Amino acid sequence: MRVLGIETSCDETGIAVYDTTAGLLSHSLYSQIKLHADYGGVVPELASRDHVRKIVPLIRETIAEAGLVSSDIDGIAYTRGPGLVGALLVGASVGKSLAYAWNIPSIGIHHMEGHLLAPMLEDDRPEFPFVALLVSGGHTLLVDVQGIGQYTVLGESIDDAAGEAFDKTAKLMGLDYPGGPLLAKLADHGEPGHYQFPRPMTDRPGLDFSFSGLKTFAANTIRASDNQDQTRANIAFAFQEAVVDTLVIKSKRALKQTGRKRLVVAGGVSANHYLRTQLSEVMRSLRGQVYYPSLAFCTDNGAMIAYAGAQRLNAGQKSDYDCRAKPRWPLEELPAL
Ligand code: KG4
Ligand code: ZN
Repeated sequence: MRVLGIETSCDETGIAVYDTTAGLLSHSLYSQIKLHADYGGVVPELASRDHVRKIVPLIRETIAEAGLVSSDIDGIAYTRGPGLVGALLVGASVGKSLAYAWNIPSIGIHHMEGHLLAPMLEDDRPEFPFVALLVSGGHTLLVDVQGIGQYTVLGESIDDAAGEAFDKTAKLMGLDYPGGPLLAKLADHGEPGHYQFPRPMTDRPGLDFSFSGLKTFAANTIRASDNQDQTRANIAFAFQEAVVDTLVIKSKRALKQTGRKRLVVAGGVSANHYLRTQLSEVMRSLRGQVYYPSLAFCTDNGAMIAYAGAQRLNAGQKSDYDCRAKPRWPLEELPAL
């Protein structure tokens, strides 16, 4: 079965074709970063309009790149939520319209399920069950995954997501949007031991996160500093170390609580090099395995939506044409496969 995947939940138009036998056939991404950079964050109305401009040419291009024509597509998966409602509506409307025109089934996919299953696009893929640490710009979640659609949320952020904390702190440091990767780059030049940031909510039981205090701590630290290049790098290092340490502590706790030996890390922040090295080290010491998507599939992309959709459509699930975009959508509401 060949499935066209459409991702438009935020500021990236992601399109892909996934074949349940041959794997990923093609994928393309149009990022709106330049469009939003002047505003220091995503402007929802501009995002929706740009998706409208880019989506159809990108679909044409991606199907052609797979060496296919439209009649070769057997199903369509689009991101139904969570995300920006206007942006979601573009992908959902185009996905449903094409499915109607081509007389094939379509399905609305949960964006975080897409992230969670992204490591399945790799050769070395995790077996179920596993614990997933999902760290994106909008969500931070620890999930016990028994199978596709069998999700128990173990903990989540009660305020800012990990990626959001990176972006907001980067903005405070005068870095461009989205600042997460730039802050990580700055941290590469930092030296350990100069600043000690708190590890929020690690001193009490539970698996929830809170990252908004780190941003305030960073703001105060920057204000009290000499703002020299090396100092800025040291502050970036200490901030990243605190976020990563907190994620590592909670992931270990989740593995202990569930007795799982496999950890999947996905979402934009899973591209973070320091997070990867720290988690790999921990998993080695626990004699467990850690799985990541390749860098291209850590941040938003169409391939993860095509993959998730292919699994569900292949099992006979589909959505009706009146399926509505869901800007808020608890992961635990999803049906099992
Ligand atoms: O998953 P994603 O593309 O979009 C959402 O679903 O939110 O995640 C984007 C987030 C942004 O906050 C971005 O700054 C962050 O992931 N990010 C990073 C890195 N690469 C992307 N944060 C820290 N280090 C990175 N290398
Ligand atoms: Zn995402």
